[in-house]
Order: sequence, then C-alpha cells, then structure tokens
Amino acid sequence: VAVVVPAAGRGERLGGGLPKALRPLAGEPLLVHAVRTLAGAPSVDRIVVAGPRDQLDVVVDLVRHALGDGPAVTVVAGGESRQESVAAGLAVLDESVDVVLVHDAARALVPVEVVERVVAGVRAGADAVVPVVDVTDTVRRVLAEGGSAVVDRAGLRIVQTPQGFPRHVLVGAHERARRAGGEPATDDAVLVERAGGRVTLVEGSTDGFKITHPADLAAAEALLTARGSQ
Ligand code: C5P
Repeated sequence: VAVVVPAAGRGERLGGGLPKALRPLAGEPLLVHAVRTLAGAPSVDRIVVAGPRDQLDVVVDLVRHALGDGPAVTVVAGGESRQESVAAGLAVLDESVDVVLVHDAARALVPVEVVERVVAGVRAGADAVVPVVDVTDTVRRVLAEGGSAVVDRAGLRIVQTPQGFPRHVLVGAHERARRAGGEPATDDAVLVERAGGRVTLVEGSTDGFKITHPADLAAAEALLTARGSQ
C-alpha cells in the first residue's frame, strides 16, 4: 500500500506566505503531522510526497526527520494543479504497489482508523473508496435563472481523503484525464468515476477536515490539545 500526498498547494486562502503544507501547526509543519499519521497506519508501506517545486530540499529534510525508520518515503515535485501533483506521485510507484491512497497534506489530523477503513474497502474489491461525513449546515443551490433553492442535506455527503484505489485503476483514470484535458479535478474518485469505475463510500471523521482558512488552523490546534489531554 502506497500513499501519494499532494502537498504542493500555495495555500493562498490560509495566508502566511508559506506553502500550506509547510505552515506550522502546534510547532510542526502540517505536512509532518499528515505524514506521521500515515506512517502510523499499519497498512501503509510507502509514502510519496508531491511537494512545492521550489522547496523540495526542505520537504525532504522534514519527512526524513518525521519518519526516521518508518515506511519508505519519496519526495517528488508537484504540479500546477492538485491533479498534476497526484499524477507526479503515481509516476514513481512501481508494479509491486497494488493499493494506492491519495491523501491531502491539508487534512493533517485524519485518524488512522479512517486510513485503515479505506484500505479495507479497496481490498474488498472497490474501484474507488471515499471517506465521507454528513453535512451539518443547511445548503442552498444558486439557480441559473436567479434565486436559490434549498437542497435536502440528508442526501448529501462531504468528501474527504484518503481516497483509495487499486493502483492500475487510478493510474488508468489519471492517464485518461490527462489525454482528455480540460479543468483539473479536485479529487481522484471523480476521475475513476469518469473512467467508468464505481465509487464506494465509507465513514470518514470530522477530524479529517481540510485546513484551508486561518480559523481551521486554530481548530486543528485545539483538536491536538484535546487529543493530548485525553
Ligand atoms: O487547494 P486545496 O486545499 O484543494 O488543496 C488540496 C491539497 O492538494 C493540498 O494538500 C495541497 O497542498 C495539494 N495541492 C498540490 N498541488 C497543487 C495544488 C494543491 O499538491 N498544485
């Protein structure tokens, strides 16, 4: 089992001038938290980080320091979009890898149980496994003709990572997407779905939220403190 970690985003919505994956959370970069959790998942054998092209040396030092003797880790240069960053990570995986997870560095506090649930779903035969959580807000759709309409939230789910796939399925879907061109996708399951695969949902965790805005960093710090005092 290999995990590709797209970590090459600029993090403009988070501010602070650093690439998001390098922003500190409780004294350590987000990426270190994410990689350490993944390394602690019993199923994970290998990690590939797609880092910001201009800071690869920093990323190599960080992950080496964070993992020590843990699973093998490779750092590659990310691309202009998340999709390109994931593709760069997939490109260095060899035939011996049969399950690939893709996990956003920005979801630094995902629990290990979610990682294991996703791997189990792929092992059980799914084309794509996606952890989800319920929508807690009321949601409205803005209509093209003007106005808006409420959407029944009971039928909606929020998509998280890690998402899991048989390696050949994900590599094929990325190859197809690259040939087709167009707007890059914001997750990997949609690429598998476009290629004819079926998406299986499993239970995610509210702790797997994506750190996007400054308030998310504060929430993540609070969560770490709460975990530390348990
Ligand atoms: O921008 P967003 O929050 O959707 O990014 C999700 C993940 O994709 C983040 O971990 C980010 O670092 C990564 N990403 C990337 N390469 C890009 C853009 C985003 O690896 N060009």
